[in-house]
Amino acid sequence: MRRFTSLMLLLLTTTLLLIASACTSGTTGDNTTAGSGGNSGGDAQTARKKKGANEQVFIGFLMDTLKEERWQRDKELVEKRAAEVGAKLSVQVANGDDNLQIKQAENLLSQKVDVLIVAPHNGEIAATIVEMAHREGVPVISYDRLIRNADVDLYLSHQVVKMGEMQARYLLERAPKGNYIVVQGSATDNNAKLLHDGQMNVLRPAVDRGDIKIVVDQPAKEWLASEALNIVENALTQVNNDVVAVVASNDGTARGAIQALDGQKLAGKVLVSGQDADLASLQLIVQGKQTMTVYKPIQPLAYGAVDAALKLARGESVQTNDTVDNGRKKVASMLFEPQAVDRDNLVSTVVKDGYQTLAKICEKVPAEQCPKADAAGG
Ligand code: GAL
Repeated sequence: MRRFTSLMLLLLTTTLLLIASACTSGTTGDNTTAGSGGNSGGDAQTARKKKGANEQVFIGFLMDTLKEERWQRDKELVEKRAAEVGAKLSVQVANGDDNLQIKQAENLLSQKVDVLIVAPHNGEIAATIVEMAHREGVPVISYDRLIRNADVDLYLSHQVVKMGEMQARYLLERAPKGNYIVVQGSATDNNAKLLHDGQMNVLRPAVDRGDIKIVVDQPAKEWLASEALNIVENALTQVNNDVVAVVASNDGTARGAIQALDGQKLAGKVLVSGQDADLASLQLIVQGKQTMTVYKPIQPLAYGAVDAALKLARGESVQTNDTVDNGRKKVASMLFEPQAVDRDNLVSTVVKDGYQTLAKICEKVPAEQCPKADAAGG
């Protein structure tokens, strides 16, 4: 009996040790690499598919939406890069429907796609897509928005918390006292949460000092301008228009907020942040109605995703510069730098990069209201 017990103990200890070593080997540090065909994280995966150097790679790009201007850019740039590198590409757009996004993934997997790039509608629900893909040995890149609680192979995005800090800091420096409205992004999008974390990192100390008061802080469903319009209209009524700033999480919600402010003749008087450097918002910036936006160059993201997709499909590793915890593992990540943009630096940023033209930005204002083009080229 005693011999039996010690045998059992030995077995148990060995098993525990094995489990522990399996867990630690799945964790990556910063400045690390993704992929290389391993089964990190531990999904029940079949062996990774591996394409030869001269074989064509089939990439599936699952998008949530094309509604915002930026997502049209993402699509065009992913298509352009895929054509340049000779990859086969199928782009699917789910229009905010999680079931449809899952079906589109299933469909691509049955067509024997080699790698999936996924901009999830719902960051939690999309974990299903990662599981399905891994069962077929297909790696998954989480694009712009993080897929949570899943064995994601790679995450490509911008520094989202920093963007939220930029938005709040810009407004707080110019309106250090008074009532604030916060309009969050969609609750289904992990970026909305990260942005809000960043915004609060900056606003909370000012709230604690009693300098500012956040009178309303609500998510705008699906990032809709119409939702932001409602939130801001109600907030204005609630505090009798006594508001100094609206922290809007992206340009679409900023435009909804500005519409509400316009209705009370407050546009231009109340500060409004944004994100995405949409043409319509840059036009509002030169009109003085929107205060700032956050510019995220899309080309490095889109090109980076296609290039990484090829590498993962071929079983090669991808250089990354960060890791992001998605609740399941530290996902090897490449996070690009955002930039705060206002009327003073739009020429040296979005115009200089060819992201927007000064002529279009200034279409709706008299010439004297247009920022000067500099030598860099507006
Ligand atoms: C976010 C994205 C933003 C924004 C928004 C609305 O996830 O990072 O750029 O446009 O979605 O689609």
